[in-house]
Amino acid sequence: MVVVKAEQQAIEEAGRQLRAGALVAFPTETVYGLGADATNSVAVARIFAAKGRPRFNPLIVHVPDLDAARAHVEMTPLALRLAEAYWPGPLTLVLDKNPSCDLSDLVTGGLDTIAIRSPDHPVARALMQAAGRPLAAPSANRSGHVSPTQAAHAEADLGDKVAMVLDAGATAHGLESTIVDARGSQAVLLRPGAIDIDSIEALLGEKVLRADQAGERPSAPGQLASHYAPRVGVRLNATEARPGEALLAFGADVPATAGPVLNLSPAGDLIEAAANLFAALRTLDASGAQAIAVMKIPADGIGEAINDRLQRAAAPRG
Ligand code: TXA
Ligand code: MG
Repeated sequence: MVVVKAEQQAIEEAGRQLRAGALVAFPTETVYGLGADATNSVAVARIFAAKGRPRFNPLIVHVPDLDAARAHVEMTPLALRLAEAYWPGPLTLVLDKNPSCDLSDLVTGGLDTIAIRSPDHPVARALMQAAGRPLAAPSANRSGHVSPTQAAHAEADLGDKVAMVLDAGATAHGLESTIVDARGSQAVLLRPGAIDIDSIEALLGEKVLRADQAGERPSAPGQLASHYAPRVGVRLNATEARPGEALLAFGADVPATAGPVLNLSPAGDLIEAAANLFAALRTLDASGAQAIAVMKIPADGIGEAINDRLQRAAAPRG
């Protein structure tokens, strides 16, 4: 039985599971989240595999408080005002990563920004404490399904993919957190949610911009144009590396080459490949090679998201 009542002993066991890289579904004040250790790329890759997300959408990182957030992001004066007013609570802030941030690249989809919040639910808070790690957690539903507001919803969608579902009854808001880009001096709304904009505008004494009024900013979460792309060209479905190319390999059968080679997964494991993808692209980008040749990667399961990401990296850009 994966659904367990969220009592202290179960929460402690869930904390151990998270530290070991497993997934745990848990209640927040908004919806149930599908949690993983945000510092462990393999664990985060399991989130994408479990949800069946066809893309590496960036995930929200859950932390106990403002001090814990400072370990990962650059707090701006605007972010500080918002966090002081709404944390713990259903407000997610998008902020720049700070240089000492040790979160997996997969959490941010390779972006230089992080969406972070401090949830206001006793079980979510006890779980973060038990795990001792920041938790990456999207809503605990299969991609395309509605967000779960009860443990049974999470179990129906993901029961075979998680170590545990911590059950604390129905969530209070039943609506996801409000997401605000707080990198600049003016707040930009990226997703409406449990905290209404009027309340934020009253606090700040000024209008909150909508993403489409904010020029360069992402037009909607999940449709971010600014995903990390290597500086050098990327060639897909390569069967060998040409002179000057670095090789991004997959599987046991790797062609001999003179240039730099990294293997996403010698065993042909797609979750391992997803976990290594962003770091491998960055390393080969910085290797001095003129281009990156990428071997064919199967498109099943999380392979679809890997191929989506590689296609964007290979797309012509201006
Ligand atoms: O209430 C919630 O926010 C729930 C609970 C579990 O905390 N979580 C949730 O996560 O709704 P998810 O993954 O279903 O939605 C996260 C949204 C996505 O639309 C994603 O694109 C956006 O946050 N997002 C994450 N990181 C971002 C970033 N760096 N910049 C802009 N948007 C980001
Ligand atoms: Mg969701």
